[in-house]
Amino acid sequence: MAKAHAPKAAQSVPINGSPEQNAYMEDIEKQFIIDKDQLTAIKDHFIVEMEKGLNKDKQTMVMIPSYVEGRLTGQEQGHYLALDLGGTNLRVVLVTLEGHGKFKTVSTKARVSEELKTGPMRDLCDYIADCIDTFLTEQNLSNVDEDLPLGYTFSFPVLQSKINRGILTTWTKGFNCTGAVGKDPVLLLQDALLRKHIPVKITALVNDTVGTLLSNAYQKPDTVAGLILGTGSNGAYIEQMAKIGKWKEGPTTASEMVINMEFGAFDNERVILPVTRFDNKLDRKSINPHFQIFEKLISGMYLGEIVRNVITDMMDRNLLFGQPGQNTEAISGHYQFETSFMSSIESDTSADLSTVRDILDTNLNLTNVDDVELRIVKRICELVGTRASRLAAAAIAGIALHTKVDRKGADIGIDGSLYEFYPSFEDRIYQGIAELMPDYADDIQNIVRLGLARDGSGVGAALTACVADKMLKSK
Ligand code: BGC
Repeated sequence: MAKAHAPKAAQSVPINGSPEQNAYMEDIEKQFIIDKDQLTAIKDHFIVEMEKGLNKDKQTMVMIPSYVEGRLTGQEQGHYLALDLGGTNLRVVLVTLEGHGKFKTVSTKARVSEELKTGPMRDLCDYIADCIDTFLTEQNLSNVDEDLPLGYTFSFPVLQSKINRGILTTWTKGFNCTGAVGKDPVLLLQDALLRKHIPVKITALVNDTVGTLLSNAYQKPDTVAGLILGTGSNGAYIEQMAKIGKWKEGPTTASEMVINMEFGAFDNERVILPVTRFDNKLDRKSINPHFQIFEKLISGMYLGEIVRNVITDMMDRNLLFGQPGQNTEAISGHYQFETSFMSSIESDTSADLSTVRDILDTNLNLTNVDDVELRIVKRICELVGTRASRLAAAAIAGIALHTKVDRKGADIGIDGSLYEFYPSFEDRIYQGIAELMPDYADDIQNIVRLGLARDGSGVGAALTACVADKMLKSK
C-alpha cells in the first residue's frame, strides 16, 4: 500500500526570543542535530553491531533467527487466526489469504489496561484467551472439529527455538508482567486456552517486524526488510544462512532466514549515540533504565516525553511559561506531552501557530502563551522529531548496505503510527538515507522503496502460520 502523503512540516522560523531564550535554543540545537558525519559513524557502528549479533550469542543487538525460512510466493492461501500483542491495542484477527498477494481480514480490538500490563502474566493470558473466545463466538467458529491454527504476534524480544517456541528475554514499551521473563509466551497462552477449552493451537510465534516483512513481501516480492516505527521500534530482514555464524541448528529448508534484529537495543553501551541529558532523564525514570536506548530516541512512546523534559528544563530556568497564574501542573506530569501532539504541532504552518496554541491550551491548560513560546515549543518538537527520523534512517541504510541493495532496488515495509502519521517523518528518513548512501542519492526513493505495510502484525502472523505449515510438510 502506498503511504498517504503526510503534510510537510514547515521550515523552522527564527525564535526571536530574549537573549537567554535564544542562547538556550542554540545550545540544544547543537545537542539534537545529527550532521552527516555523525550519522555516517552511527550507521557504520550499526553495521558492525549487526555482524556481531549474527556471529555470537548474547550481543547487544541480538539478531534473533525467526525460524521463518525462505521467501513467500504470494500464492499462500487459507484461513488463519492471528493475535497481536505489543502495540497500542490487543487485537484478534481472522485472516483469509486468497493468493495473488490478496487477503481479507476481520478483527476486534481491546485495550490492555496498565494493571494487566504490569500484573501477573497469568492474568494477561486469561484476558487474551477470553478475547479470543468472544471473537470466535462472534465469528461462529467456536464449534470446530480441529483446533484453529493461530499466529501469535508477540512484539517483545523473544529468543526463538522453533517457529512456535521461544523465551522472553525482557519486557519493553511499558509492559512488565510478573512470571513471564525467562518463559515461553506460547506455552503460557496455550495453557490459558486449554484451561478455558478454547479450540485454538498456536502454530507460529512472530515478532511484529517479521510479520510486517512478510505482509509486505506477500504483495511485493522484492521485500528485504520490515520495520516498526510506532510505540516501539525494531526491524527484521532476510539474511543468508551462511552469514548467520551463530546458527547451530543444522540444515534448514531454505538458504535464507528472516532475522528479528531487536535494534531498539542498539548502542545500549552508549558508544556512538548522541544521548542528551533529556534522554538520560527519560531513561532513568523508565521501567528499563539503560536498555533500549536507540528505541527511546526514536519511538512514539518516548518522543513526547523527551520534548517535555526540554520544556520543563526551560521552565525551571524561567525561560518558558512564567506568566503570573500560569497553570503548569499538567505539563509537569510524566508523559503528559504526547507524541501525537508533536505530529499536530509540526504540521502547523500557520503564521500565528494557532494549532500549537490550541494544543497547549486544550491538552495542557497552558493559556496566554506568547508567540516566542509557541515558536520555541514547535522548534523543540522539530529537533526531537528530526533526530528520531535520522536515526531511523541510519538503521535503514545499515540494513540496505549490509544486504547489498543495488540499483535494482528493494522494498522495505514499515508499520507504526510514527511512520504513518508524523509529518515529514518519511521525507526526513529519505533525506538521511540519501546522505548515507551517496552512490544512490540521485534515485533513492526508487532504490530503497519504503512503503506503509499496514497490519503487518495481523496478516504477517497469518502468513507465518502458513509458512509454518509448509515447513512442517517439507521436513
Ligand atoms: C520490541 C520489539 C518490537 C518493537 C516494535 C520493541 O520494544 O523489543 O520486539 O518489534 O518494540 O513493536
